[in-house]
Amino acid sequence: MDFISKIIENAKRHQKHIVLPEGLEERTLKAADKVLAEKIARPTLIGNPDAILRKAAELGLSHIGEAQIIDPENNPKKEAYIELMLKIRQSKGLTREQAEKLIVNPLYLGTLMIKAGDADGEVAGAMNATGDVLRPALQYVKTAPGVSVVSGVFFMLLPDKTYGHNGMMAFADCAVTPNPDEKQLAEIAVTTGKTARILGEFEPKVAMLSFSSKGSAKHEMVDKVVNATKLAQAMAPDMQIDGELQADAAIVPAVAKSKAPGSPVAGGANVLVFPTLEVGNIAYKLVQRLAHAEAIGPVLQGMAAPINDLSRGCSVEDIVDMIAISANQAAGL
Ligand code: ACO
Repeated sequence: MDFISKIIENAKRHQKHIVLPEGLEERTLKAADKVLAEKIARPTLIGNPDAILRKAAELGLSHIGEAQIIDPENNPKKEAYIELMLKIRQSKGLTREQAEKLIVNPLYLGTLMIKAGDADGEVAGAMNATGDVLRPALQYVKTAPGVSVVSGVFFMLLPDKTYGHNGMMAFADCAVTPNPDEKQLAEIAVTTGKTARILGEFEPKVAMLSFSSKGSAKHEMVDKVVNATKLAQAMAPDMQIDGELQADAAIVPAVAKSKAPGSPVAGGANVLVFPTLEVGNIAYKLVQRLAHAEAIGPVLQGMAAPINDLSRGCSVEDIVDMIAISANQAAGL
């Protein structure tokens, strides 16, 4: 069974409750209809119920009536969520007036539903920028216990099965933290290794990438990766993590032999950790386009509950897949 089919089958078994704040967005509605028809998860749509049902009828969608629809302007839990917002962020300067305005914003309402235990996860971003999806999540749902940094991993499914784990690799961080420090980079490496184990079902070989392999170049940017590698190895002694490595040394056995002899990871890496978001984001897009890889993600990791961001260019299938991935994360798979 391929990666996504397995994720969808797992999601069906757990029937998690996933909130979709962009309830009036056409691709989101079509995805919700498919999720309901195939019983992949229990979606809640946020938006005006009349407008959502009218649009669903126009689109010929027959299952939307089965979804829970929450009207942000007329939400029976509004007051309780405002109290929760104040409890969490009054000390950061949030006023009641600000909370009253924010709670009608679907992206805030979705995260408050999760925080209050009224939903298991959220998928948004078909019509909102990444930062706007992430900010409420980081402010209210926050990071998982023991984690300080949220990051985004892409599962890259390569046509060339000689790389990674039968052609599957995990790339991170490609979505969230612009310039992680050493400790954050180490955490991103360990978290990505764990995500590879859980969602990818493969044993990670984590390469900490740089423009240097094992001391071949000297620069403060290289030092960051060298130090992050040591921290990551100490954080997860049971995980194969090595660096600093250039990309070719990480994935090509012949190059690994000359540039990083004896490395347990070089030449066979299946998890690539990039030193900054710039590199990670550019790298995944180039591999996607030039190597014709399927890029599944970004799957956000390190958050206390699954909140996943879509690309604004996403397809209906991408949204269905991300709902299923979020359901797997909510089930702890
Ligand atoms: N991990 C954990 N917590 C974080 C992180 C992080 N990576 N970043 C910010 N936070 C926390 C902060 O500590 C802060 O908490 P507090 O308010 O309780 O003190 C809260 O989140 C808000 O932080 P700000 O710094 O005020 O938020 P900011 O406006 O900087 O937004 C964001 C953070 C949205 C993640 C920003 O860094 C960002 O936009 N990153 C890039 C996202 C992006 O554009 N990605 C590329 C596109 S995605 C793609 O192509 C697939």
